[in-house]
Order: sequence, then structure tokens, then C-alpha cells
Amino acid sequence: MSESKVKITIKNNGPLRVEGGEFEICDASGKAFDLGGRTAVSICRCGQSQKQPFCDGSHGQCGFCSEVAAYALPAK
Ligand code: FES
Repeated sequence: MSESKVKITIKNNGPLRVEGGEFEICDASGKAFDLGGRTAVSICRCGQSQKQPFCDGSHGQCGFCSEVAAYALPAK
């Protein structure tokens, strides 16, 4: 992975892991979250985190099940 390329990994039964190059996470108004210097963050997929949009580990207690394998999207 090149240093400038952001990688998003869909964790089985867990969050989206965002890491790699430069990125920002913004709210609906376009304001960026202050990530406190983090170069990687996990975004909640289960909806149960008390620290939305970030994962707080709650997926482990709520029984969230979602395993995803990569596939090709249809052409635009
Ligand atoms: S995916 Fe971790 S708390 Fe939702």
C-alpha cells in the first residue's frame, strides 16, 4: 500500500478500519472531527457505539454479525 493511499478494511463482525494516507472524517455539515493525531480510526458499523461514528468495541457485546468478502461492483 502506498503511503498516500487510504485503505478501508471491512472487519468481520466489526467496524470499518480507516488507515493509510491522509484522510479526514467529517460530519454532515462538512466539519472535520479532530482525530487527536490518530493516523487510523475505526468507524462503527453496528450502530451500538456510544462514541458515534467511531467504534467503541460495543459490537462485541451486541452480537453484530456481518462478514463481507470483496466483490466487483457492476459497471457504472
Ligand atoms: S462496530 Fe464497533 S461499536 Fe459498532
